[in-house]
Amino acid sequence: MARVLVTGANGQLGKCLKDASSRYSTLDFDFVTKADLDITDGAAIADYFKNNTIDFCINTAAYTNVEKAESEKDQAFNINAEAVKNLAKYCTEFNVVLLHVSTDYVFDGTKGSPYLETDTTNPINVYGASKLQGETYIREACKNHYIVRTSWLYSQYGHNFLKTILKYAKQEKPLTVTTEQTGTPTNANDLATVLLDLIVSEKANYGTYHFSNKGAGTWYDFAKEILENFNLTEKTKLAQTDYYRTFAKRPVYSVLNISKLEKAIPIQVLDWKESLKTVLLKHSISH
Ligand SMILES: NC(=O)c1ccc[n+]([C@@H]2O[C@H](COP(=O)([O-])OP(=O)(O)OC[C@H]3O[C@@H](n4cnc5c(N)ncnc54)[C@H](OP(=O)(O)O)[C@@H]3O)[C@@H](O)[C@H]2O)c1
Repeated sequence: MARVLVTGANGQLGKCLKDASSRYSTLDFDFVTKADLDITDGAAIADYFKNNTIDFCINTAAYTNVEKAESEKDQAFNINAEAVKNLAKYCTEFNVVLLHVSTDYVFDGTKGSPYLETDTTNPINVYGASKLQGETYIREACKNHYIVRTSWLYSQYGHNFLKTILKYAKQEKPLTVTTEQTGTPTNANDLATVLLDLIVSEKANYGTYHFSNKGAGTWYDFAKEILENFNLTEKTKLAQTDYYRTFAKRPVYSVLNISKLEKAIPIQVLDWKESLKTVLLKHSISH
């Protein structure tokens, strides 16, 4: 039975992977949190691989605060790039296949049509630059890897846009949400399934893939859809703005083309609005 190590297990994707893992009876899992295994501690990673026979490592551990990264560049690069370099090195040394999650923010957003894996990267914020450096290190150090870029993750877990909108709606605060960026909200549960399908299908060549739900929208569209699903449109005033001041610049268009992955393994990908409904139905998320 293949054994899968999942790092960053307390994060939203880590938790979604834990939920999904029960559906994969041919895989054994080790879920490790930051307290169990800090990926910036190279010696601890080496020890872990020495003491446990691991076949696949899904790295969900990351510095994910896009805003704070602007002022915490060293920390962001330390976790998203330098630590990943070490992880990639030890994966190669211990013959572990590395599955790493990256981001649509490696792109600058000027293309205007869905991004392919082969499109030129040009991050416009520190977080994106740190994640891109992590990707580069993996390609240099670890041949047996899958880098899966994704976008706008949300789920029933952690801090994310869905949870934020519902928090504000609960407080009956008026909301102003930006229409400045277009992307694809992605259900982290769907991403978890895809990562595990990549492992069990044994079909996809190693390399870089894009995964998101289907379709596209703005953050305003996402907020509107959330409120509509909870019948909150009357109660919560939602306004749109084409300018919302943030520290970090964001790509104005970061929709990902996912056809490479769809061709590589058999997956059914839901439209983002449909997938949002599944999260709201399956989990007791309340407002
Ligand atoms: N969220 C999005 O919208 C989005 C979009 C595109 C791509 N991604 C990528 O998707 C992946 C998963 O994101 P997510 O939303 O699940 O993020 P998340 O909820 O912030 O989870 C990240 C986890 O990594 C842990 N971590 C941080 N530093 C660590 C370290 N040095 N060693 C071990 N663990 C560490 C965090 O622990 P603490 O909380 O204790 O620090 C947290 O549990 C990341 O690679 C992210 O870059 C996310």
